[in-house]
Amino acid sequence: MNPIRSFIAVELCAEIRQKLEEILRSLQGPRTQAIRWVPARNIHLTLKFLGDVAPAQMTPLTQQLRDRVCQEAAFSISIGEMGAFPNPRRPRVVWVGVDAPQELAALAALVDRETGRLGFPPEDRPFSPHLTLGRVNQSATPEQVRQIAAVLAEQNVGRLGTCRVSEVVLFRSDLRPGGAEYTPLLKLPLKG
Ligand code: 2AM
Repeated sequence: MNPIRSFIAVELCAEIRQKLEEILRSLQGPRTQAIRWVPARNIHLTLKFLGDVAPAQMTPLTQQLRDRVCQEAAFSISIGEMGAFPNPRRPRVVWVGVDAPQELAALAALVDRETGRLGFPPEDRPFSPHLTLGRVNQSATPEQVRQIAAVLAEQNVGRLGTCRVSEVVLFRSDLRPGGAEYTPLLKLPLKG
């Protein structure tokens, strides 16, 4: 059996997803043609990217996550403000920010630790919660990157609202010619 490309994430509420869809529409145009946009239905808050998981690892993985993640309490996050990695003047990844209580970083650290016990490499970068809207093509010219930076500087997205984080989802990611397809494999409810 083939390995299963997987990641662990939080899904967004319908209201925020709708607002993200409007933002995506407003950003798309001739000046941002070098961006590969994420369809609104695929936008999520990643806690941990696992990469290829061997089918034999799936049972221990889901058991470990069930045992540990479901002990944690639900909480709310606030969504808003746009930004870019590595920075807004040299955008490569365009995102909307997530303002969260320390429970979110604690949840990401827990997932990292528990998956680490099963042999998945731990994150070497600090957790930086974000919702990726689009990725600038590697082949983008300096002028295209400048145009994208200009579009981002014109945006005034502000706060979009809050979402309750009441479950954590293990997703399967299938890379198709038309873009990634995400399928929930396991939903882990949080307490409360
Ligand atoms: P990103 O939003 O910061 O790009 C599914 O691919 C999710 O896993 C994406 O949201 C992506 O986060 C995250 N991810 C983290 N590391 C990744 C990697 N090396 N390859 C693909 N996705 C990765």
